[in-house]
This record gives sequence, structure tokens and C-alpha cells, in this order.
Amino acid sequence: MKIQPAKSLHGTINLPGDKSISHRAAILSAMATGEARIENFASSADCASTLRCLIDLGVEIEKENSTIFVKGVGKNGFQKPEKKLDCGNSGTTMRLLAGVLAGQNFDSVLTGDASLSKRPMRRIIEPLGEMNARIEAENNCAPLKIFGKNPLRSILYKMPVASAQVKSCVLLAGLNADGKTEVQSPQSAVKKPNSRNHTELMLRFLGAELEEDFIESDGGFVHRVSINGNSRLVAKDLRVPSDVSSAAFFVVAAACLNESEIVIKNVGLNPTRTAIIEVLQNFGAGIEILNRAEICSETVGDLLVRGRKKLAPQIDSNKIEGDVIANLIDEIPILAIFGTQLENGLEVRGAAELRVKESDRIRAVVENLRRMNAKVEEFPDGFRVEKSDLKGAKIDSFGDHRIAMAFAVAALLASGETEIIDHECAGVSFPEFFQTLAHIVK
Ligand code: S3P
Repeated sequence: MKIQPAKSLHGTINLPGDKSISHRAAILSAMATGEARIENFASSADCASTLRCLIDLGVEIEKENSTIFVKGVGKNGFQKPEKKLDCGNSGTTMRLLAGVLAGQNFDSVLTGDASLSKRPMRRIIEPLGEMNARIEAENNCAPLKIFGKNPLRSILYKMPVASAQVKSCVLLAGLNADGKTEVQSPQSAVKKPNSRNHTELMLRFLGAELEEDFIESDGGFVHRVSINGNSRLVAKDLRVPSDVSSAAFFVVAAACLNESEIVIKNVGLNPTRTAIIEVLQNFGAGIEILNRAEICSETVGDLLVRGRKKLAPQIDSNKIEGDVIANLIDEIPILAIFGTQLENGLEVRGAAELRVKESDRIRAVVENLRRMNAKVEEFPDGFRVEKSDLKGAKIDSFGDHRIAMAFAVAALLASGETEIIDHECAGVSFPEFFQTLAHIVK
């Protein structure tokens, strides 16, 4: 894929459904009783992996454009699969389904592609083991052989990392446990969940008995969620908001290209996901939120983004660290590109989790920014990038969708042509990305 520099972006766009919410909509509807119609289901390859696994577990799913119809089987009504369940590139599919399969009365195997097979699974193997499911995994990596048990034992689990996938895995297993299962997040300085809370919102929306509060400790807050194993889910029609993580690529491009004006419709604005918008606004990006509304317990709104000749930050610090990191972890590659346009550059710390995503995203960002002439320093837990005149270069996506898309935006801001190797991996979250971009680039 070859990309030329751009002058500005113009137009109104609709983006595919949120990937995180789509996974949960499919899985929770499958665990419910009754049939669900789910609109604006993500077009991502990752969510297709979730659907494929559910079908292999005996769930009837039909698809009509971006709407899917799921016939629930009940929380422990899945059928033993005849083959290994292939999660493709999707960590969310593997970690959430592990929680579901731990509580079934059969054994199953979850596999994934080369990248997923290197990602850490101990973080779910441990709590599921405490709940009495046995999991065999060489070096704590996929493939995972899951020896299911029903009912599981309910536990109190204190998560060592702020991870929505781990929290969701334990809560889904908790639906098939013999009492109340509680998950506590690592301590945070602010009274706000420090990982996305789509699972909690949807579980409650579908009727689960779920409690949530904060424990105050040492001047900080621990978020805790508990689920009653007696809970039953009842299917409801759902509509998935558009993906704010996908929107972020267009927001940054439009904010940095003077005279741009774009509107992105119906974007998911759950407060555990909007840190990216707030951080960009603090650094002077011209973003307005219009038409705020609530659908199926998630907040949505339109984003109006206007390019500015000069970004005038409203904060002194050029450092992003601490609690905010977990709430914008997927947007850090595109934030790095944004950093090249800031007078004082940008430093990201406390983001070592980036090294165990679909690629080592710290390495991938640093390597590719250097290829584009940016001055950048690598740290074990982040990087610092200076304001730089980007130059077109040959970019390696490292097979990682968010790296491919972030550097497509860098290409628009650069001088000269950029080539992105293996750009097709964008399909993991956003198959229509390059087409949508071409549509609004002027
Ligand atoms: C996700 C949670 C995050 C995020 C991933 C999607 C989810 O991962 O990076 O892209 O849908 O729960 P962690 O929970 O591992 O931080």
C-alpha cells in the first residue's frame, strides 16, 4: 500500500461497530436464553473469529450485512466442539472464551495464530485454575487445553494488571460458579474503573446480578465487581456503537491537517474508552462531541474534528503515564504519531503492556518512526518522541493492525511517499480502513 501526503480530510463517515463490544454482544447473547438481533456488529476479522468459535460450540448465528442474529443456548448449554477452536489473532476471543469454556461440562482446545500463540495466558490460567478448571498450556501460551467443570468454585480475584480481558474472563466463568465471584482491579488514583467496563454494562443489561463499587485504600481506589453464579441472562436486541479506537486514526489525521473538517457518526463514548479524546483535546486538538445519547447502556455521540494550523496544548506536561494508560492502551501507536506534531513532543511511560499486544508495539512504533526520520527514544515501558518532520519511508506493520493504520496516518503528515508492508492486517479490526481514508483525503 503506497500513501501520499495529504492536505486535509473532509466529510462525514460511519465506522464499523466497536470490536470490544461486538465480542461481548456475541458471547453474552450466546450465553443467554432467547434470540438477539445485534446491529452494527464489527466487521473485524477478530470478531469473525469469535462468531466462528461460537458456531463450533453449537450456537446458531446468522448474518445479514452488519446485523447478526444469535440464538442463545444458555450459560452452560454449549456443545463439545468437534475440533480445536481457532481464535485467529484475537486475544479477546481467547481470553473471554476461556472463561466461558472453563464452566462447561466438557473439554476443549483454544488455538490462535503465531502472534496470539506468543501472548501471555498465565493471567487467565491462574484465576481459572483457582476456580477449579484445569488448563494445560505449554509455557502458559496458546494452545490452551481447557478441562471444564460445572459448577466452578467462586473466588475473590485480585488482578495484578489492569486488564478488561482478564476481568471479563473471570466474570464470565463466575456465571457458572457456585456463589459470588469477585474481581478487584489494581489500585487507581481516581474513582473510575481502570479497564474498559463493557462486560459489566452488558451483563447487567441482559439481567445478570452484578454489583460494583470502589474500596478506598491508601489514598487510592480499588474497583471491585462481583457476579452471582445464579444469574441468568435473557437475550435482548443490541446495537453496537462505532469503534472509538478506529475513530482515533481519523481524529488524529484531521486534527493535525490544517483546514480539515470531519464528522464521525455514532462513536462509542464509554468513559473507560474516551481517554484518547481527552488527551488529544488537552494537547490542543479541535474535537467537539455532538448528539450525545445512550444506547443499550453505552454512551454514543458524533465527533466533529477540525484541523488547526498550530496545536496549542492546554497542559504543561508532555508526559502520559499512570492510570490513564490502561484506558487508552490501544490508541498509543496513533498517539505516538500525534506526538511528532507537538512542539514539545510526547513521552509515554508505564505502558509495558504494549510489548505483549498483537506485536511489541513499543518496538514497532520506535522502529517505524525512526524510518520516517523522527527523533525517538525507546524505554522498557514506553518511548519519547520529539517534534519531527516526517519523511515518507518503507514501513513494516509487523503484522499488527494498529501499527499499519497509525503509520498510514503518519504517511499523510509526511513529505514524500510511504509504503506500508502487509497493510492488509488492518482487517483484524477495520477491513474498510484504507477505503474510508481514501474517501475523505483531499
Ligand atoms: C480488550 C482489552 C484490552 C485491549 C484489547 C481489547 C477487550 O486488552 O488492549 O484490544 O476487548 O477487553 P487488556 O484487557 O489485555 O488490557
